[in-house]
Amino acid sequence: MTTREVGIGRAHAKSILFGEHAVVYGAPAIAIPIPQLSVMVQARHSEPHGDVQVTDVVQATAGSGWGRVDQTDPGLHMLLGAFCLATAAEARGVHLRVDCTIPAGCGLGSSAACARAVVLALSDLFDRPIDTRLAFDLVQTAERVAHGSPSGVDTVATGSPVPIWFQSGTAKELTIDVDATLVVADSGVSCATKVAVRQLRERFDADPASKTRFLEDSSRLTTAAVEDLTRGRVGNVGQLMTDNHDLLRQFGLSAAEVDRLVCAALTTGAAGAKLSGGGLGGCVIALVEETDRVEAVVSALHAAGAVATWRVRTAGYSS
Ligand code: PMV
Repeated sequence: MTTREVGIGRAHAKSILFGEHAVVYGAPAIAIPIPQLSVMVQARHSEPHGDVQVTDVVQATAGSGWGRVDQTDPGLHMLLGAFCLATAAEARGVHLRVDCTIPAGCGLGSSAACARAVVLALSDLFDRPIDTRLAFDLVQTAERVAHGSPSGVDTVATGSPVPIWFQSGTAKELTIDVDATLVVADSGVSCATKVAVRQLRERFDADPASKTRFLEDSSRLTTAAVEDLTRGRVGNVGQLMTDNHDLLRQFGLSAAEVDRLVCAALTTGAAGAKLSGGGLGGCVIALVEETDRVEAVVSALHAAGAVATWRVRTAGYSS
């Protein structure tokens, strides 16, 4: 079997439009790609041969909170081992260069994107083509270390060029006909998804009836959103997003900094806004229909404490 000198893997950020947390328990979720935030991994063979090891990791975008993978990441080491086991690639030293512009710990799927890019780079380096299922399983190996019980929505969405509907391990492409702008705003408060998922689980354990209500409400909002997304009803989609935020907030998954951003977006004319991802900080997404309102919403978000914002057009996806 041939091996190349360098293997390249890429993945991108994602944003969950509906259904985060509920998706961990088998309810549906909707996620869209954020292609302008991405990660590229270059994998090379390195000395010494023997155990699989990461000899170097470079993060092009310096600064705390950026990128996710580092030399000591146990998920990365598990992933490398699982890759060799699954593909019978010859175990040897591997040098990884990770160039990542996805901020970590803020609900944009940075850990899954980095893991996906590593898997694809290894597949390329060792010339071991891997199918969608194996790629999913390998990324999930790393995600289980990062998250505990990942639903898999990040794992799929960070590799999908189009929006997806995701439920119980199965993803479907979602055709959306919404011509609007999604403004993604980082609250600057970082929280590990694992912590938020554990907190919600403890709440459900203490009050099992609340779990049923949460899952029913989240599923209803996500299902209703599909119809509105496919029919281009921006106002309805926005209202459902705000309702989803209220639900997540009632279950203790928001934060004062996040609520401030949601409020700022809504009062400046966004059709809807919500936290996105694990919560307890992280990112807010705001849906803005009129192009000439986008600037005002972005300014309001910064004035309310956002440390960074990105704009994503919700039209023109192609697979
Ligand atoms: O915060 P992120 O980007 O890791 O998104 C997590 C989404 C959750 O639903 C909270 C967890 C999961 O595994 O689906």
